[in-house]
Amino acid sequence: MSTNDVQAHLQNLSDRYQQIQAKKLNLDLTRGKPATAQLALSDALDGILQGNYICADGSDARNYGGALGIPEARAFAAAYLGARPSQVLVGGNSSLQLMYQVVTNAYFHGISANATSWRDEAGSSGQIKFLCPAPGYDRHFSICETLGIEMIPVTMDDNGPDMDQVESLLRADPLIKGIWCVPKYANPNGVVYSDEVVERFAQLGKIAGANFRIIWDNAYAEHHLVENPPELANLLALSEQYGTLDNAVVIGSTSKITFAGAGISFMASSEANIAGFVDLLGIATIGPDKVNQLRHMRFLKDMPTLRQLMQAHRDILQPKFELVLKHLEDGLAGKMHNDQPLGTWTRPAGGYFILFDTQPGLADKVVKLCAGAGVKLTPAGSTWPYKKDPANTNIRLAPSFPGLSEIDEAMQVFVLCVELATLEQ
Ligand SMILES: Cc1ncc(COP(=O)(O)O)c(C=O)c1O
Repeated sequence: MSTNDVQAHLQNLSDRYQQIQAKKLNLDLTRGKPATAQLALSDALDGILQGNYICADGSDARNYGGALGIPEARAFAAAYLGARPSQVLVGGNSSLQLMYQVVTNAYFHGISANATSWRDEAGSSGQIKFLCPAPGYDRHFSICETLGIEMIPVTMDDNGPDMDQVESLLRADPLIKGIWCVPKYANPNGVVYSDEVVERFAQLGKIAGANFRIIWDNAYAEHHLVENPPELANLLALSEQYGTLDNAVVIGSTSKITFAGAGISFMASSEANIAGFVDLLGIATIGPDKVNQLRHMRFLKDMPTLRQLMQAHRDILQPKFELVLKHLEDGLAGKMHNDQPLGTWTRPAGGYFILFDTQPGLADKVVKLCAGAGVKLTPAGSTWPYKKDPANTNIRLAPSFPGLSEIDEAMQVFVLCVELATLEQ
């Protein structure tokens, strides 16, 4: 385009932007919440117990106790996480809370009976650190930030974290005590860790300092958007093989399977880790909400039943993802400025997010322009430790909650703002 053509095009984009502003839109593509129609798929949870509160082992779900969770939920979670029931704890409605407790337990008390605390291992001048494959999940990073744990970003590619980088960092510094992972349909870039990456993860315990933990947050294990979903290798089985099971903490929940605010969470690790966790948990509670666990087991039954439910979720979610992708393809594919594409984006096979990359230095500007036109996006940078995206390119799009017409309108604005921000630069 000649300079005059660019000027004319920019004027046209600015005019369209002002017209949209006049509409006073109020649209939101921020958090990865299930839509109301998805929640309604599990409405049968309500009343499903019909007065029968007795669990598989004869205990009464209404009473105190059962810190590890009811036996049928532990068996179910074991199948879901690829563990043995004895390696599983079933908790309350939030896996994030389990992760927070794992990290705070390790930090203040030691993760199992004989383990020293990370705080003591650091000594008076040492600094505990965590590896953070980035971009990643902002709430993982907030846990580190609140405890003053230094976060070291790790590069990711289509196979997962750069394992050469992970291994050399661990070899060099025994005060790196953990790594955050979302190994399947990662939040936000949709990456599924390759078999080779998982196998290398299973061996990290051999090179890391004492009490190193891999927090393997498999939040989207069954949340596919395609017909033949990719498989994730089993970290627990591989860790057992390499003698590093204590280093692996595998997490999941039904938050995006049943009710996001009233599901059940689970954790699998070595029996020593689970026992250490329960000891500390017992100080805070006399047991989890076993009535909800029982309701979930009567409803979800087994993995084939759960997969049917996930298919119904996919039927709702897939058109929303397709619509976002259609806007990106139609509006931006093939468009160049300064010999670079206006943006690149992921086509996830599952999970809750599409990651968009602007040209360098423009993500915050696009988010601001969208906000000015009534479209809320996750703040630029929030998928990085300390909210600092070094290239300022990542924008996380979360299409699950809004309806199709809302997405349609919001994406028109988004595409316009990407073009406007790039040309204005
Ligand atoms: C990677 C990841 N882990 C955990 C959670 C929260 O899970 P829960 O609702 O079980 O606390 C989310 C929610 O968006 C997530 O994206």
